[in-house]
Amino acid sequence: MKFFADTADTDEIRDLAATGLLDGVTTNPSLVARTGKDFRDVLDAICALVKGPVSAEVTATDAGGMLDQGRGLAEVAGNVVVKVPLTWDGLKACKALSGEGVGVNVTLCFAPVQALLAAKAGAMFVSPFVGRLDDIGHEGMRLIDDIRTVYDHYPDFATEILVASVRHPGHVAEAARIGADACTCPPAVIRKLADHPLTDKGLATFLDDWRKTGRDIRGALTPA
Ligand code: G3P
Repeated sequence: MKFFADTADTDEIRDLAATGLLDGVTTNPSLVARTGKDFRDVLDAICALVKGPVSAEVTATDAGGMLDQGRGLAEVAGNVVVKVPLTWDGLKACKALSGEGVGVNVTLCFAPVQALLAAKAGAMFVSPFVGRLDDIGHEGMRLIDDIRTVYDHYPDFATEILVASVRHPGHVAEAARIGADACTCPPAVIRKLADHPLTDKGLATFLDDWRKTGRDIRGALTPA
């Protein structure tokens, strides 16, 4: 499963990219606004840090405006994926941009039939928002399971399921169990994926036991 960082914070992206485990980045207008920086500067910086797909979202709401903004965004770098909302205009723009060879991420997906439309419109990614469904008492991960089932019935669909609005490692674990193609997570959630109290406890015991021997590994490996 691919890991994307759901942030426009370039310090966070640089730090995560250094692990070699980051496959891409997703942004949205709220995340870019939070940086307080110029949109173009932010996008240039992110695309220079990450080789994989970088989703950049349009703010136009009509198909013509989305097409215009989307074409402009796609010119910024070869790894830009244009993010459009799951509306009829967004689907029209998705179909046209995909036809021009531009990768499109159809976002704000909350139902399997919406995901079906995104695939038919040629989206590279569909972004179902699990956390926001949980927030209103629905079962967000159920949506991922349903979309997986629907897409698996139609092998011609090339659209990848990009689980979004991820709030905790449990969402990532469940997404992997279902077979989602990618998860986009806030940096704090990505960092939590490696954490386990028994790992910390076990490591402390190993090191403590070793320290008591008074030996060192490099010394033991160096021929006398
Ligand atoms: O990038 C879209 C999505 O991941 C937003 O998440 O936490 O604002 O619902 P959230």
